[in-house]
Amino acid sequence: MRKAIFVRLGRKKKRIIMLTDIFEKDTLLETSRLRLRKITTADTQDIFEIFSDRQVMKYYDLLPFESIQRAREQAEFFEKSFEDKTMLRWGLELKESCKLIGTCGIFNFNESALKAELGYELGSAYQSAGFMSEALSAALEFIFKNCGINRIEAYVEPQNVSSQKLLEKLGFTKEGTLRQYERCRGELIEICIYGLLRNDYTSRT
Ligand SMILES: CC(C)(COP(=O)(O)OP(=O)(O)OC[C@H]1O[C@@H](n2cnc3c(N)ncnc32)[C@H](O)[C@@H]1OP(=O)(O)O)[C@@H](O)C(=O)NCCC(=O)NCCS
Repeated sequence: MRKAIFVRLGRKKKRIIMLTDIFEKDTLLETSRLRLRKITTADTQDIFEIFSDRQVMKYYDLLPFESIQRAREQAEFFEKSFEDKTMLRWGLELKESCKLIGTCGIFNFNESALKAELGYELGSAYQSAGFMSEALSAALEFIFKNCGINRIEAYVEPQNVSSQKLLEKLGFTKEGTLRQYERCRGELIEICIYGLLRNDYTSRT
């Protein structure tokens, strides 16, 4: 476990609060239709269904998964990155069936700039039914409440309309287009950057 950092202020020591202190909280969340919980290797089959779907992976820099083994590795990666405090990724479980239908979370924690990056994906059978808005509303509330984060950012391909609409609905601002920013599917592509500041969030809620 990572040790707490202390600074000396006069004769007293004061503990510095880290963004990754959020991992010490109870991260289990509930919305009306979903449970947001840790992902484990028991989710391998559901992870495979999501990440092997070409429609879901269309704008990802990962190829659609072709084997259950690859899905198991991804589940292990989510599990380990939670333990290592490098990514807080929730599995989105449908309350009525306990099926995992997507994931969302934050990663790339930057302690000095008090920021992190948002990522998410939902199985295609469950899209356009408000699930990700529901999940991210709960996730953002939890994140802003439980750590000193100031900025959450998201990187989206210009053609990914549903992702951009989702971010705008949640209060994110499109801050610009990064030119020839990433190599994806063999080409250098543009990426739109979206940001949500703590002030933006608190002024909406
Ligand atoms: C992006 C994604 C997570 C959206 O999840 P979702 O649950 O379908 O989104 P919601 O139903 O909560 O919709 C949010 C808003 O997005 C818009 N939207 C949703 N689906 C849309 C579609 N197919 N076309 C256009 N807009 C769409 C709507 O404006 C909606 O707002 P409204 O409900 O007020 O009309 C989902 O489409 C997905 O997983 N895509 C593939 C993976 C991906 O691209 N991840 C992000 C990488 S940056």
